[in-house]
Amino acid sequence: MSVLDKFNLSGKYALVTGGGTGIGKAIANGLAEAGADVAVTGRTLSTIEDTAQGIRDIGRESIAVQMDVTNKKSVDEGVDRVIDTWGKLDIAINNSGQFGWIDGVEVDEQDWDRIMDTNVKGVLFCMQAEARVMIPCRSGKIVNNASMSARIVNHPQNQSTYNTSKAAVAHLTRSLAAEWAPLGVKVNSISPGYTVTERTRNASHVAPYRDNWNRDTPVQRPAETSEMVGAVIFLCSGASDFVVGHDLVIDGGFSLW
Ligand SMILES: NC(=O)c1ccc[n+]([C@@H]2O[C@H](COP(=O)([O-])OP(=O)(O)OC[C@H]3O[C@@H](n4cnc5c(N)ncnc54)[C@H](O)[C@@H]3O)[C@@H](O)[C@H]2O)c1
Repeated sequence: MSVLDKFNLSGKYALVTGGGTGIGKAIANGLAEAGADVAVTGRTLSTIEDTAQGIRDIGRESIAVQMDVTNKKSVDEGVDRVIDTWGKLDIAINNSGQFGWIDGVEVDEQDWDRIMDTNVKGVLFCMQAEARVMIPCRSGKIVNNASMSARIVNHPQNQSTYNTSKAAVAHLTRSLAAEWAPLGVKVNSISPGYTVTERTRNASHVAPYRDNWNRDTPVQRPAETSEMVGAVIFLCSGASDFVVGHDLVIDGGFSLW
């Protein structure tokens, strides 16, 4: 097998949470381009169906699976649907996330629960459901979408709850990577830096910060969603079989300073 063959995902069945928009959509498309069939999951059927149709248009199989990651029953049913359709799950990308620029003294219980329930509890629920079907096969790759905010304190905007949630994702990744590697399931994470999505491209709340972020990023620009894809394909492929519990930072150097 050539080294490039190791990156080929043909014959693999994948699931992406929050795959209807932004980074999740780019990852779902990228996995399909690398050869995988992809279940696109999310809460809004129209957006996930749109991504799924795009994947079918390039000749791969795809299903749109409605799933709210904060609801354990919904997550379990979503993974069951993938197994009912394809019989196995090889790759899972836990990408869904909630944001919040809220000053620490203003964070209320509702903000805390919204962000922590999605970013931490939601990732745990997904990982559990995915591992439950991967462990009996003694094979599988799970990649969580953390953030550079797992290891730095962003500024000038205040986002302590989000940062805390992403630090939890990175450490949950390491903890379950150690627990599940002996069972054949490899768990890693990516940590994007500032990445332009449909949601943020023209958002007025983001505009005042753009110059700061670009100045503080050694490559002096934000990432495009497509720039997250290569790292994910690597972590899902045979090329990374000895990589366990790694957090692959993709931030244009932002967290170096
Ligand atoms: N864009 C960035 O600058 C950036 C940087 C670092 C990390 N991230 C992470 O990347 C991931 C994707 O974010 P994005 O930037 O593409 O923004 P986005 O808003 O386009 O994506 C978030 C996705 O999560 C989904 N989601 C939210 N709550 C959910 C729930 N309860 N159940 C199921 N799905 C739910 C949304 O519907 C959406 O599809 C997030 O985890 C985010 O924290 C983004």
